[in-house]
Amino acid sequence: MRKLWGGRFQGETDALIAQLNSSLPFDRRLWRQDIQGSIAHATMLGATGILPQEEAMKIVEGLKALEQELAEGRVALPEDAEDVHTAIESLLYERIGDVAGKLHTARSRNDQVTTDLRLYLRDVCDRLTEEIREFQQTLVALAEREIQTVLPGFTHLQHAQPISLAHHLLAYFWMLDRDRERLHDCRKRLNRLPLGAGALAGTSFPIDRRRVAELLGFDAVLPNSLDAVSDRDFAVEFLSAAAILGMHLSRLAEEIILWNSPEFGFVELDDSVTTGSSIMPQKKNPDVAELVRGKTGRLYGNLLALLTVLKGIPLAYNKDLQEDKELLFDTVDTLLLILPALRRTLQTARFRAERMEAVLEGDFSTATDLADYLARRGMPFREAHEIVGRIVRYCLEKGIKLEALDVATLKTFSPLFDSEVLALLTPRASMASRTSEGGTAPDAVRAQLAYAKQKLAEPH
Ligand code: ARG
Repeated sequence: MRKLWGGRFQGETDALIAQLNSSLPFDRRLWRQDIQGSIAHATMLGATGILPQEEAMKIVEGLKALEQELAEGRVALPEDAEDVHTAIESLLYERIGDVAGKLHTARSRNDQVTTDLRLYLRDVCDRLTEEIREFQQTLVALAEREIQTVLPGFTHLQHAQPISLAHHLLAYFWMLDRDRERLHDCRKRLNRLPLGAGALAGTSFPIDRRRVAELLGFDAVLPNSLDAVSDRDFAVEFLSAAAILGMHLSRLAEEIILWNSPEFGFVELDDSVTTGSSIMPQKKNPDVAELVRGKTGRLYGNLLALLTVLKGIPLAYNKDLQEDKELLFDTVDTLLLILPALRRTLQTARFRAERMEAVLEGDFSTATDLADYLARRGMPFREAHEIVGRIVRYCLEKGIKLEALDVATLKTFSPLFDSEVLALLTPRASMASRTSEGGTAPDAVRAQLAYAKQKLAEPH
């Protein structure tokens, strides 16, 4: 196959070196974007008179026909091509002959590749935004069902205060909502056109970059050709947003794993999202959640790998930059796999409200309510905290539950206690009392849900 840079060379490229050099095995997935970018470039070359209109038209028509053929699988990219750009150009040659050689006027693969990548990531951001939105919808649907379900809220993995299951689920809704915002921000910043930067210094042809930007839907033209061809900060930003998203999913996955254990027993996962053990017949393992947690490692790794690739390269383009693609693709593939998989795990899960309520019994998780009661009657909270601490110790020594105490006993700790206090000591009353904005009381959760739905209905 014809090389794009044969002229200067006499010897053949060593096979091993060609293998190292080639990016086609992975950048082939950019073929649509490559054609899209080339169509815009050729259109501009015609419009500015850099190429005669008929030639530009011939190139554009050729590219469109090729796009069709590739989409229908009637033609394949030549495997011996160095990269997707070379592959597309050589297929164009086969179709329209020598005029194909004019497409690369006023362009370099250096500005071409990063244009392709930006076009690709733009679509990816949209697709992922949609996936996240669907995940959030699932959380909202579950939360609507579980407003009145009470479970222990944890700090330090110790029972802290009773909360609503809906509240717990919605915590993830808001994390994912910021993930969606981050992708939106990332899309905004990457949607700027590098094409026209040439190899590094611009071009002597009278190109019209704004026209190309318009044709490709970019919001602006990158103002510095060196920056345009050599930075990949947009890719870092994407990988960073993806890593944060992965971190959120992984925390949720970890909770599913914990909750699915017999010790917790808060959730039972559906057969369709679990697997068995080849030796232990009783096992039903939460593999999906474990894989989400595990794969978050590679999301972090891809971010760190790209940052490391970039940190030492002088301006402008260097071949190191070719390393950006596999990292990006791996992150995209991973997210498009784990987002729906974890969503399905949640959708099919059976939450065990009876078990959540049972473990709240005698767990002292309403101790704060007791202290708040004294504070409302004028006692400084610190003092109230001290007294309730003593009450808890008393219960532990006697082997009784907090909610089993009678008023007479409570009065021996403080005369401020009276009979109303007993009603506060149930988990449900405790949950219902936290009515502050953003709190776990059913009414506060309802308000939160309404806001969540409103956010989902907004375009971003
Ligand atoms: N395959 C290359 C990449 O992914 C395309 C740009 C090559 N440019 C060059 N001058 N060799 O970065």
